[in-house]
Amino acid sequence: EKDGFDHFMLKEIYEQPKAYRDTMRGRILDGLEGVKLPELKVLTPERLQSIRNVHIIACGTAYHAGLVGRTLIERAVKIPVENDVASEYRYRDPIITPETLVIVVSQSGETADTLAALREAKRCGAPVLAITNVVGSSVAREADDTIVTWAGPEIAVASTKAYTSQLIAFMLFSLYWAQVTGRAEVADLRRELAAMEALPEQVEKLLEQATEMKRVAEDMAKHDNLFFIGRGVDHAVVQEGSLKLKEISYIHSEAYAAGELKHGTLALIEDNVPVIALLTQPALIEKMVSNIKEVKARGGVVYAITDEAHAELVGKETDGVFVIPTTLPHLSPALSVVPLQLIAYYASLARGNDVDKPRNLAKSVTVE
Ligand code: M6R
Repeated sequence: EKDGFDHFMLKEIYEQPKAYRDTMRGRILDGLEGVKLPELKVLTPERLQSIRNVHIIACGTAYHAGLVGRTLIERAVKIPVENDVASEYRYRDPIITPETLVIVVSQSGETADTLAALREAKRCGAPVLAITNVVGSSVAREADDTIVTWAGPEIAVASTKAYTSQLIAFMLFSLYWAQVTGRAEVADLRRELAAMEALPEQVEKLLEQATEMKRVAEDMAKHDNLFFIGRGVDHAVVQEGSLKLKEISYIHSEAYAAGELKHGTLALIEDNVPVIALLTQPALIEKMVSNIKEVKARGGVVYAITDEAHAELVGKETDGVFVIPTTLPHLSPALSVVPLQLIAYYASLARGNDVDKPRNLAKSVTVE
């Protein structure tokens, strides 16, 4: 059932190209002219036109997918988006109106906190859209509309292909929303959709270099503390990378918006502290390079993940670099998270942990 892989997690990492294709299948119009989502019944174009703000609610990895979702929606639709972890949402008395679209994201569709947030949103009259991997789950049944991610069953406790399929769902939904409310030109949709369709092959390409991540992970596994840094959407992705590493390798790590280091955390950087830096955003590369210099000046060892377009520049400033294919900047999380998943996997393996069933954790958290 593991198809020759040692663990479900590794199998699921390698299933991502298929999960991307399955989640896109039937949802892209011929000639890349737009997106179709006939499953949206309550969220008609008219209803979407009336939406003034968005709340994206989820837990753990699904929350991290929502952080990327925010960038995608704000960019495509130009409507303000807030993210909350589901266990906090209700308790801050959020301002929810019938013009608020509440998006809940859940692989299992059974997470108690997420379900409670969904119910609160409905009580306030907001339309609720679910992004879930399980057809007929509680979240899918109670939401007004559902976009299913076709990642297939995810067995490993550490979520991988569900996260990346959630990114694909956000990409599709944000483009759809822009399209049906007249905010997107066909030329732009074509460019976006062509870039999306290239993602599965790009993941296949970077998976061919997986052993390089094994070497990095084995090095990381010798440390008890490390940092991840990124800016913009890369910051959202490193938060996911850090969670993945903690969850299965039990190595303490923190993910920082790189510009925040000098506001406190830099005090923790000393000789040989490993820092994993993610750089995929052209507009932020220079700022990231300055942040990397701050780390290097204090003795930190910086391993970078960047795309082909920036490999040379970044290679000069860091101690090692892993190169991923180039895509549109806002689509990069669908590629850049993969090496981080591999680092977590191989670090867990190097430490002799139970990769698929980390201590203290359950696949589906049905208590609040
Ligand atoms: O099933 P859900 O997506 O609602 O689960 C949410 C979190 O419990 C889950 O993503 C958790 O953070 C993962 N184990 C992370 O790998």
